[in-house]
This record gives sequence, C-alpha cells and structure tokens, in this order.
Amino acid sequence: MGTQEKDVKVPDHEGRRCLLADKHIDFIATYGKTNNEYEYYITEYLRMSGVYWGLTALDLLNNLDRMDRQEVLEFVKSCQHPCGGFGAAPRHDPHLLYTLSAIQILTLYDALEEVDTATCVRFVKELQQPDGSFFGDKWGEVDTRFSFCAVACLSLLGQLHAANIDKAIEFILSCMNFDGGFGSQPGSESHAGQIYCCVGALAVVGALYHVDVDTLGWWLCERQLPSGGLNGRPEKLPDVCYSWWVLASLKMIDRIHWIDKDKLIAFILACQDEETGGIADRPGDMVDPFHTLFGIAGLSLLGHESIKKVNPVFCMPETSLTKLKVKPILL
Ligand code: FPP
Ligand code: ZN
Repeated sequence: MGTQEKDVKVPDHEGRRCLLADKHIDFIATYGKTNNEYEYYITEYLRMSGVYWGLTALDLLNNLDRMDRQEVLEFVKSCQHPCGGFGAAPRHDPHLLYTLSAIQILTLYDALEEVDTATCVRFVKELQQPDGSFFGDKWGEVDTRFSFCAVACLSLLGQLHAANIDKAIEFILSCMNFDGGFGSQPGSESHAGQIYCCVGALAVVGALYHVDVDTLGWWLCERQLPSGGLNGRPEKLPDVCYSWWVLASLKMIDRIHWIDKDKLIAFILACQDEETGGIADRPGDMVDPFHTLFGIAGLSLLGHESIKKVNPVFCMPETSLTKLKVKPILL
C-alpha cells in the first residue's frame, strides 16, 4: 500500500462502534416521507433502484415488513411498459438498470407472477447485440453493467437460455485487462464497479473459471487504504459503496480473506450518522439509501451476526433467492 495514496481519517471513538440497526431501519422506512422531500424529488430518475436499495437494506436487517408490500407492488407494476421493460418511475423510459431493480423487488416479495415476465424476457433478449454485448435501452449505449443486468434478470426469471450466453461471455472477456480487472467496454480501464458486474455476470452463467483469480484478487485487495476503507480505482478516495463492489467480487472469487476485515468493519461503522441513521460514502458526509444498503451488505459479507447473509452476485438476502421456483445458478 503506497504511503502517497489519497485517504481519509476515521474519527477517534472511545471503544468499538456498533451497528445502529434500528436507526438505519427508521432512516430507510421514512425516506421520502419526512424532511428530505427535495432530495426525494430530484432522485425520481432512479426511483426503482432507490426502492430496491431501501427494501434490500430493510430485508437484510429483518424488517422488510416496515414497507407497504401492496403499495410497492403497485408502483413496480405502474412502471412496466408494453415492451416488457421497466422505467425508473411511471412514464419514464424502460431501461435494463431499472428492469433488474424491478425484478429484484418482485423477487424479494416472491411476487414475480404479478407482472408480465414473458415480455420482460423478450425486452432483455432483444437488447443483445451480435458481439454479445447489451444495449441498456433503445438508445444504444453499451456497458458491461448492462451485461450484468441482462443475465441477472434472465437468471432470476429462470430464462437464461433466452439470450446467447456464449456470446455474452465472449463480450465480457473482451473487456478483461492485463491487471486481471474489467472495464465498461473493451480497452476501458479496470474499475471495481465494472469488475463486480463482469465477475457477477460470469458467476451467473457459470463461467468464473475464465477469471485470473490471483491477479484480480491482488488488484482488488490493493483497493484497501490505511483508513481501512476501499476505493474503486488507484488514487481515488475510499467510499463505502466499494465495500460492496470490491468485497462482493472478492467473495465470488473466494479471496475475501485477503483484506483486513476488522479495519474495513471499523471504516463502515464510522460512516454511520449516529443521529439520523443511514450510512454515508465517507465519515461525516451526508447519508443516503445507496450507501446505507452497500454498507450493510458489506457488513453482511464480513459476517456481521445481526444482518442476514447477502448473496454476493445478486446483492439480495440468500433467503429470498432460495424461495425461487427456478433456481439461479449460484456459487
Ligand atoms: C460505480 O459507479 C459502480 C458501478 C459502475 C457498478 C454498478 C452496478 C450495477 C448498475 C449493477 C446492478 C447492481 C446491483 C447491486 C444489483 P459510480 O458511477 O458511482 O462510479 P465512480 O465511483 O467512479 O463515480
Ligand atoms: Zn459511493
């Protein structure tokens, strides 16, 4: 670890910090209902994913019933288009990012039969390109995030065979770099978020054997800084969401023991807001549902006893995946 690296200071604390689970549950359950209306309004463009982050955080903390199931299901249904894809909010265009979030929410509630899954499968399949990549939507942007969203959706729907999986693997492997990592497109630099997507997609389709585990494991554990936090690329500041992107990738390649768990736990716990609940990207910053989920999910991977076990590929509680009638390929 270089001593020149950018990092943050974790404020001193008398003794060990603990997980403020009840505060996080209240923060998530009241988000958008209390005093942060402006923030709620300006995040409408990603509402479906926001709902997935919040519900998953609540479920991991054994409190899924704090949300109104029927209200959430009505919202999800109101976002499906005749083409089968889902938008972030009613009247927003369909996109693979929000289609995956919608399918994840329905899976959490064991309610996949409440929407038209057959046209959803067709929506995903038709976004695949001849080189195996996936467009995110009709506008044609290609990114390995969309490869992950596509195979994760199809897997949760028990319809992996609908896409050309050999071609999908070929495209993902064309984004692999000399350092063992993956980028958003062929030739793009390695980035922990994209690595999570590529390793996750390969895990879903049972093709993890293509990964150079030791080279990638080394690059990933180099993301840990003296503060204990993880960054997403060299020279970047640590950020709680990378506790998920990096850690889940390490878990999938069975190298999670290569990082200093206690220091990372201490970093994540230092990012909690002790008054309002919620977790921020770094100590002292504003909390939000995105970093709250990925902090909690990271702590789950690190073995925190009061959090449900999270699946490293789907970022959902293992319990919600075992309920599926058609099992996704798991690790
Ligand atoms: C960093 O984003 C994160 C990524 C690129 C990965 C995003 C992953 C998905 C959309 C797949 C779905 C995810 C789950 C958990 C089911 P950033 O834009 O914050 O990157 P930066 O830190 O470089 O700004
Ligand atoms: Zn972040």
